[in-house]
Amino acid sequence: MPERSWSKLWSAAEEARRRAHAPYSRFLVGAAIECDDGSIVSGCNVENASYGLTVCAERNAIGAMVLRGRSPRRVAIVVDHARPVPPCGVCRQVLAEFAAADVPVRSRTLKGDALKTTVGALLPFAFGGEFLDEAEAARRARSKRR
Ligand code: THU
Repeated sequence: MPERSWSKLWSAAEEARRRAHAPYSRFLVGAAIECDDGSIVSGCNVENASYGLTVCAERNAIGAMVLRGRSPRRVAIVVDHARPVPPCGVCRQVLAEFAAADVPVRSRTLKGDALKTTVGALLPFAFGGEFLDEAEAARRARSKRR
């Protein structure tokens, strides 16, 4: 099967990157997600003078996706750096909340060097809602026995 083109996703991520609010790190990041209906949402990193409040591009793109009620099919990340960046640990966890393990994640520099991976490879043994469901089921079973 021929690979679906990533070019629209890259353009959306590049456009988002240009909107980044990163006056403190000057590290501008753009992310774009192709949703399950084929639509594309994007996000940029938004920093704050209170540094810890910074939100990464990937999480802002996820927020835009949630707003549309969609789920992710592919994720693209763009930086202007010597090498592509992988998403940070927090963003991996947030991606894993919504994306199946086989969802492709690609990261690219403006020059074109790319990193190709998947959500599952980025975060093996992810913590997810199923653990909370199991705990709830166990609680219910215990209270029934009482
Ligand atoms: N950043 C992202 O937006 N995504 C990543 O994958 C890595 C880091 C942002 C957060 C912060 O604004 C800047 O890059 C430096 O850490």
